[in-house]
Formats: sequence, C-alpha cells, structure tokens
Amino acid sequence: MDRNLTETIKKRYNRTAIFYDFMDRMISPRWRKLVWQEAHGRVLEVGVGTGANFPFYPPDCQVTAIDFSSRMLARARQKLHLARAPVTLLEMDVQQLDFPAASFDTVVATCVFCSVPDPVLGLQEVRRVCHPEGKIVLLEHVRSENMLLGPLMDFLNPLVVCLIGSNINRRTVENVKKAEIKIERVEDLAGKIVKLIVGRP
Ligand SMILES: C[S@@+](CC[C@H](N)C(=O)[O-])C[C@H]1O[C@@H](n2cnc3c(N)ncnc32)[C@H](O)[C@@H]1O
Repeated sequence: MDRNLTETIKKRYNRTAIFYDFMDRMISPRWRKLVWQEAHGRVLEVGVGTGANFPFYPPDCQVTAIDFSSRMLARARQKLHLARAPVTLLEMDVQQLDFPAASFDTVVATCVFCSVPDPVLGLQEVRRVCHPEGKIVLLEHVRSENMLLGPLMDFLNPLVVCLIGSNINRRTVENVKKAEIKIERVEDLAGKIVKLIVGRP
C-alpha cells in the first residue's frame, strides 16, 4: 500500500467533507435503492462518506460502516438517526481491513473505488471479509468507453483528483476481476458511465 498517496487522498476527503453533500446529488436515490435491495444480514458498508446511504439500509440488517476520513465520518455521525438499521461507524482503510475473513454476508460500496488509492488491494480485502456465500454490491462511476469522452476523462482526471480525491477514469469492472471477485452481473445505469456491479467472493 502506498501510504503517502493514502494520506494525500484522505486529506482531500477531509477537506471535501464540508461540501460533499452538495456534490452527492449526482447520485440518484433510485440507484441507491437498487444497491440496498441486494443487502442482507451482517453488512459492511465501505466508504460510508457522510451517510448518504443511511435512509436506504434495510431494517433487518446489522451494518458496520467504515471510512478512512475522520471528517466524513463526523458528518455521518450527525445523520445516524436516518438509518433504520443498527449501525456501527468505524475509522478504517479498506486497503487494510481490521476484520477476520468471512465476517460479513454483504459488502456494499457506492462511489468508493474511484478514490481508493490501490483499488485492487481494497477489493481483495472486500473479497476476504465477505462470507463465501455472501454478496458484494458496488455502485461505481467508471471511465467512458466512448472514443471522445474516454480520453477527455483521462485528460481531466488529474485535476479532479487534485480537487476532490476521486478518479473519473477508473476501470472498476476490470479491477473487480483483478481482485478475483466473481462477477454475477453488471447493470449500466447512466449510459455506461455508472454501473451496478454484483459479485461473489
Ligand atoms: C465519493 S465518496 C462516496 C461516499 C458515499 N459512499 C456516498 O455514496 O455518498 C468516497 C468515500 O470513500 C472514502 N474512501 C476513499 N478511500 C478509502 C479507503 N481507502 N478506505 C476507506 N474509505 C475510503 C472517502 O473518504 C469518501 O468518504
């Protein structure tokens, strides 16, 4: 794991935390619902951010929600009353999860692996902590396959990383495969730029 890069991205999210909820409006509540209808049992939410998913947690789940940004977590803490399921919030890096193998029935992340410094390492950790019979559910924006838009995203990416810490040109489906998560289905949501990825460890 690249500790310097991890610290840099963490600082960007600490800086972004105060206005993150304005940017977050780009993610449709309908997509969040699709994600959370897949979750059951002991759930790990990776990169909980400011808690935008809290209203969508199914009431019969027990959720552990982690983030490496203390400021994002502080904002999430203020919204805990919106969750209908019991939630434990923890400061933790997905690249080095402090949970035994097979601890969770479902692992969920929404718009997280665009920012994780080493996404394949993070996804390998997700696979490790997910029960062999469990499910991994990701909502991610990815690099466009369009001949013009893809290169434009590559061009703009350094600026976006510098401003908010997120990459707009990640190939997350490929990263999921590299982490040896077995993909069950991929649904295109906004054109082909936002994807719902459902997999098994
Ligand atoms: C774009 S925000 C998404 C927040 C939330 N999931 C949502 O849907 O609104 C990405 C979040 O992932 C967190 N994150 C990025 N890299 C992480 C890592 N290595 N470990 C834990 N959290 C991380 C950031 O701090 C940030 O809160």
